[in-house]
Amino acid sequence: MNNLAGKHIILGISGGIAAYKSVTLLRLLVKAGAEVQVVITPNGKEFITPVTLSSLSGKPVVSEFFTANTGEWHSHVSLGLWADVMIVAPATASTLAKMANGVADNMLITTYLSAKCPVFVAPAMDLDMMAHPSTTRNLATLRADGVRIIEPEVGELASHLVGRGRMEEPENIATVLNDFFGENSPLAGRKVLVTAGPTYERIDPVRFIGNFSTGKMGYAIAAEAARLGADVTLVSGPTALPDPQGVTTVRVESARQMLEAAQKAFADSDVAVMCAAVADYAPAHYVDRKIKREHDKVDSIELVRNPDIAATLGATKRPGQILVGFALETDNGESNAREKLSRKNLDMIVLNSLADKGAGFGTDTNKVTIITRSSEEIFPLKSKQDVAADILNRIIKDL
Ligand code: PMT
Repeated sequence: MNNLAGKHIILGISGGIAAYKSVTLLRLLVKAGAEVQVVITPNGKEFITPVTLSSLSGKPVVSEFFTANTGEWHSHVSLGLWADVMIVAPATASTLAKMANGVADNMLITTYLSAKCPVFVAPAMDLDMMAHPSTTRNLATLRADGVRIIEPEVGELASHLVGRGRMEEPENIATVLNDFFGENSPLAGRKVLVTAGPTYERIDPVRFIGNFSTGKMGYAIAAEAARLGADVTLVSGPTALPDPQGVTTVRVESARQMLEAAQKAFADSDVAVMCAAVADYAPAHYVDRKIKREHDKVDSIELVRNPDIAATLGATKRPGQILVGFALETDNGESNAREKLSRKNLDMIVLNSLADKGAGFGTDTNKVTIITRSSEEIFPLKSKQDVAADILNRIIKDL
């Protein structure tokens, strides 16, 4: 099973010949859907070029504290917070020593010192360096600090001597990381359906009924669920956002199309989060040419009610499936949300109100209250990514 999709990985590369294998490791991680940020030491760049690494990762390689011509400072702190895991491969004797002793004289070490995530090292060096008491001591210190060591292999080394010190093969390192996420992914093996964005209900070839949803909230939930190990299907109305990494995205336009796609995915889902702002009404008749003001003199449009997707799924819900709705309100938020929770047979509803500044449509932030039949939790204004994490943490408790 692929547990790497959507994961944030820092790949630290220090200056050893095994750096050439890091290119393959990077390729494997990116291919599995991980987002990889390479941090390379100045010596690492002697073995492998940043251009190769940035081409494969799709991100500029981080190496220096400052960009020379602009003086721009690169924050190792934000990198350390962003990552789900950090892997240093190859980890030379010098880098292991610096990590063990906190010698923060390059970006790789400062990133390590500020990383909040689990850290792996894959040592690579000549056999005598590997066997030296100082390396043994440093590895013991790192182990005691919680760093996980991917033991080097015995084999032919760059010096043509044979012994212990060959960096583990990239395929095996990728497997170690994949297994690590498998064991530490609370949604591994779970299928999650997310709806997001608006629906467009066509009036004629140039006009539609829609709303202001951008998809940001739903896409953040889909991305976070994938990061937590779930197999995610995102059914999205029209948005300008790119498909989230590691998520199966199904693009639809109207409420009826969204219902069809959601029903298909819901059948074998463990969790469904209905974040889409579905148009409640659609024109009763579609006109297949542009309606002309002077010629057609249309003063009103007859509407029909769209299906309620959340309620339809709620009516067919199996025991054990968790169905989560959103309530977008302007007033009487809590009572309206509770009424929807019960009418649509939801297990949880996330209330957000346009009365709260920074909440709702289009913003990068949201302020929500998570309501179940037996609980209610009010959260402060947060980024939509953090709101997504709060919602999924609450769902995980119920799974
Ligand atoms: O996309 P963004 O710009 O980031 O904005 C996010 C958001 C404001 C759209 C999102 O946070 C949100 O509140 N989504 C639900 C909006 C909405 O339609 O709320 P509602 O109260 O009208 O609907 C209640 C629930 O029923 C929702 O889960 C909705 O998806 C669902 N519904 C509604 C109508 C319908 N015909 N079918 C449905 O499934």
